[in-house]
Formats: sequence, C-alpha cells, structure tokens
Amino acid sequence: MPKAKEKQADFGFRRVPLGDKQTLVDDVFYSVARRYDLMNDLMSGGLHRAWKAALVTAVNPPRGDSAFKLLDLAGGTGDVAFRVADAGGPGTQVTVADINAEMLAVGRERAAKSKRNIKFIEANAEKLPLPDKSFDAVTIAFGIRNVPRIDVALAEAHRVLKIGGRFLCLEFSSVDVPGLDRLYDLYSFNVIPAVGRAVTGDAEAYRYLVESIRKFPRPEKFAEMIRAAGFRRVSFEAMTGGVVALHSGWRL
Ligand SMILES: C[S@@+](CC[C@H](N)C(=O)[O-])C[C@H]1O[C@@H](n2cnc3c(N)ncnc32)[C@H](O)[C@@H]1O
Repeated sequence: MPKAKEKQADFGFRRVPLGDKQTLVDDVFYSVARRYDLMNDLMSGGLHRAWKAALVTAVNPPRGDSAFKLLDLAGGTGDVAFRVADAGGPGTQVTVADINAEMLAVGRERAAKSKRNIKFIEANAEKLPLPDKSFDAVTIAFGIRNVPRIDVALAEAHRVLKIGGRFLCLEFSSVDVPGLDRLYDLYSFNVIPAVGRAVTGDAEAYRYLVESIRKFPRPEKFAEMIRAAGFRRVSFEAMTGGVVALHSGWRL
C-alpha cells in the first residue's frame, strides 16, 4: 500500500516534509544568531532600520503613562522590541516571543547591556503560551515566512490580540519595478550568500533566506491570508520598490 502523502512545505527552493521545516529553520538561526544584527546592516545597507522605523510609527505606542502591551513575534534579537520600547512611554510593556533560544540569548544580552526592560519568552508562533485578548498590538518582522504553518500563526496572533488591537507584519515582498527586479536578483543570489559566508561562515543559511523570500506569497495573496485569519481593515504598503511590504490588520 503506498504511504499516505505527507504534507510538504517550502524550505527555500526545496520541498521538505512539513514536519521537518521548523528544525531546518532553527538550524539556520542557531548558526547565524551571533552575527545576525551585523548581517542585517550589511545585507540591507542599513535599510532595515528605516523599514523597522515605519513599523514602529504604525504601532504608535502611547508616549504617556497609559498601559500598552506589545507582543513581538519571532522577535529574535529584540530589534523591533527595543525600538517600540524606546518610542513608547513608561506604560509600554514589550514581550518578545521566538522559538530559537540562541536568538533570544543575544536579545537578552542586548537588553541587559542597554538596561531595557523587555520580557523574552521561548515560544512557537503557532502555539503561543499566552492568554486570549491580552495584547494591544502584535508585530512580526521578517519572521512569518520562516513559520511552517503561516495560517496557524496568524490565527494565534489574532487570538492573543485585544478587540481593537492591531496586527502589523513586515516582510520581504515582490519587486516589480523593471530593472530593479534583475538587479535585486543578482544582488540576492550572488552578493548575499558571499557576504554571509565571509561574516558568519555559513553561505547556505543566507541562500535559504534569499530563496525563502522568493517563495513567500505575493502581498495581495498574503493580505488574503491575513483576512482569512479573521483580521479586518486589512491593508499593505510596499516600500523600497516592493523589496519589503508592511501589512496591517485589526481585530474588530
Ligand atoms: C529573520 S529573523 C527576524 C528577527 C527579528 N524579528 C528582526 O526583524 O530582526 C526570523 C526569526 O523567526 C524566528 N522563528 C522561526 N520560526 C518561528 C516560529 N515558529 N515561532 C517563533 N519564531 C520563529 C527565528 O528563530 C528568527 O529569530
């Protein structure tokens, strides 16, 4: 009897059993964690700072004492969390959730050094150990494409948001500007793995990161997935010629 067909997932350009994807993704981030922040600056020429600044502006944490709880999913080394904490007032409480202990360890060290009060929890975005309706905003930056079951993670983000809360997702997107698309491909498939090898010793990890960007759904399709998870007033904004898109949805 032929075995029932196992569900598959994309791991970069490879098709792998769905159940194997998370381990493969975890290996990538264990390998690059210590050089992750440096690589972000090198690969994007510092642009990731502008993209994250746009995300923080959209989160718009209150400057005063009023309570505001943010959950930063797949928050890794804490970059988005630090920016929201710095932008908000004393009532802003930030929690980072990530599945990778090594990325979190780097984040905790950075937070301790800069004396920021951020909570870090090791958690899978597909099964959050957090109560329903407990956050004012949920963010995820460059994380969702790594999660094996995106629909499940979106449903979890929806579940933990308060009514009236906002979901914001920054992710690589589809470059449609003629000329820029070819340049972007050349840069992505040649320069990034080479820089990755020089800085982290792991070109394969950066090949995966580039390939996973190409396999991620187009922004219209991803907006549809956000809507299917129950979010309303769903929209997105392309940045830098479509290199990145900022997606938004509300729990209403
Ligand atoms: C490209 S990094 C982004 C880190 C950070 N958000 C930033 O913008 O710098 C992707 C992160 O997603 C995390 N991740 C992958 N799968 C996950 C999952 N199922 N649940 C939670 N985090 C996950 C990885 O461990 C990694 O830290």
